[in-house]
Amino acid sequence: MQTVTTIEELRQARQHLPAPLGLVPTMGYLHEGHLSLVRAAKRACAAVAVSIFVNPTQFGPQEDLDRYPRDLPRDLALLEAEGVDLVWTPTPQIMYPEGYQTWVTVEHIAAPLEGAMRPGHFRGVATVVAKLFNAVQPDRAYFGQKDAQQALVIRRLVADLNFPLQVVVCPTVREADGLALSSRNVYLKPQERQAATVLYRALTAAQAAYQAGERNADQLRQVMQSVLQQEPLARPQYVSCAKLDDLQEWQGEVSGAALLSLAVFIGQTRLIDNVVVGGEF
Ligand code: PAF
Repeated sequence: MQTVTTIEELRQARQHLPAPLGLVPTMGYLHEGHLSLVRAAKRACAAVAVSIFVNPTQFGPQEDLDRYPRDLPRDLALLEAEGVDLVWTPTPQIMYPEGYQTWVTVEHIAAPLEGAMRPGHFRGVATVVAKLFNAVQPDRAYFGQKDAQQALVIRRLVADLNFPLQVVVCPTVREADGLALSSRNVYLKPQERQAATVLYRALTAAQAAYQAGERNADQLRQVMQSVLQQEPLARPQYVSCAKLDDLQEWQGEVSGAALLSLAVFIGQTRLIDNVVVGGEF
């Protein structure tokens, strides 16, 4: 496994990798969710590259950029054990040198949900992902369904800017009690960790209602709300039943694929999760 930092080193190393090349973009502090993406890339690609970069431009001024967990030596050991070929660990100065002023903005699909709650977030994500794609030039890029809107924004970006690569979205990896794996789970105190299972309980309750025949969008949102209300440590930010293709809220009857999603504060920690009903991601 080769580890590089500068864009020149990356380009040099990339030349020697066989096609197809899979890229797994990450912000580090890797967990089984990231490793499932690496394994999916290993299965389908001749070579696998991983980027590790805590992207400052996707964090809001009041968000957790400074305390976002980092452990590069551990990340590198995990990636080595998975048989990754190339790891790119650029610095903020490499990605955003002085005078930097070019941004990628994806419009409608980035506007609701996370986009509404975290202004500027998807501008930062789209910009850094476009830069990662330009630098690495992968044939396939791997993202987790846990960040469902991010995956849809990146699919749109790839289509609109004609990046010659396939976006692969892999299933959310969960703890045994249903909590979706996230680097931010490390912030949860023991009692909060227990309370955090309420996200998946709310989603699976709505999924069960859908499977039992419920098609009213308000009812499905209400099922999630009422489960969340039973958890005193949970402060919901949004609860959504949206069309999977454009993320507009379903009104009245759900007659196609729906993304059931939510964002919930458990103490100071903001968690998101989702499931799809009536279709596939
Ligand atoms: O999902 C993430 O870890 C980040 O948003 C990504 C895609 C690596 C861009 O910084």
